[in-house]
Amino acid sequence: MTKPTPTEIGHGYDAFADLLDQIWGENLHHGYWKDASDDASLEEATERLTARLSAMLTVKPGSRVLDIGCGIGEPAIRLATAHDIEVVGVSISERQVQRANDRAASAGLADRLSFQLADAMDLPFPDESFDIVWAMESMHHMPDRWHVLRQAARVLRPGGQVAIADFLLVPGADGEKPDGARVREASKGVLSVVDLDEYLSHIREAGLVPQSTEDVSAHTRPSWGKAAVRFAALREQAEPHIGAEQFDLTLSRFHSFSQETTLGYVLLTARKPD
Ligand SMILES: C[S@@+](CC[C@H](N)C(=O)[O-])C[C@H]1O[C@@H](n2cnc3c(N)ncnc32)[C@H](O)[C@@H]1O
Repeated sequence: MTKPTPTEIGHGYDAFADLLDQIWGENLHHGYWKDASDDASLEEATERLTARLSAMLTVKPGSRVLDIGCGIGEPAIRLATAHDIEVVGVSISERQVQRANDRAASAGLADRLSFQLADAMDLPFPDESFDIVWAMESMHHMPDRWHVLRQAARVLRPGGQVAIADFLLVPGADGEKPDGARVREASKGVLSVVDLDEYLSHIREAGLVPQSTEDVSAHTRPSWGKAAVRFAALREQAEPHIGAEQFDLTLSRFHSFSQETTLGYVLLTARKPD
């Protein structure tokens, strides 16, 4: 199976919005749990991950932020609630863009938040037009992550920062060697991951300087199992849309990822030189 195109990904998010709402809630990304005794809900834990990535940034009042792969706008709403900033979000899903704009208006933030349909592979913004580029769990969808990284560097003003939350290839339990091919195989080609050294070298090649990285693999991994439990409960609703075979495949993928200790997760920031 080959990786879906951006258009197919957008249609998928449009078609499965209701299911995604029931699985993930408002944040379409992983959660953060402190340790095995942490019984935070998925909703609480996903908010925490947004807060952790946001805490790695220096956000100045008046900053202009680009949110690449904005989902239904919740991380942008959180950022704009905490800081006096303007956020422009892009998504490849028309329905998400509509909902994100509606949600921003309901939150009384429409004067500072706007969302539009755009492909991150071809960002429709001038060079040096943002102070911060934020990409939370969207880079793995891109046909070419490193092209999007170069796009991010292009639209950033000198001195600006990029903040990324993304999947990562990490050493497994008991020092097991990371195996990107196995992760790709388990995801049927959908999820390709690299290790931190390779990620950082692409960041440098894009003209950015890595600032901070946090390997949150162990803290985010419970997300797969918790999402699987919610997805399993939605069989009756999901099967008529995706069929029994696809339902079982997706569920088994969630379970196998929850056991895959070389599939990790990283939060990182980088800076465009002045
Ligand atoms: C897992 S969701 C994360 C959403 C949001 N960042 C959040 O944390 O709630 C991935 C997002 O990436 C977006 N996306 C995927 N491919 C894209 C592309 N080529 N251009 C723009 N957005 C894209 C999807 O539409 C979706 O909004």
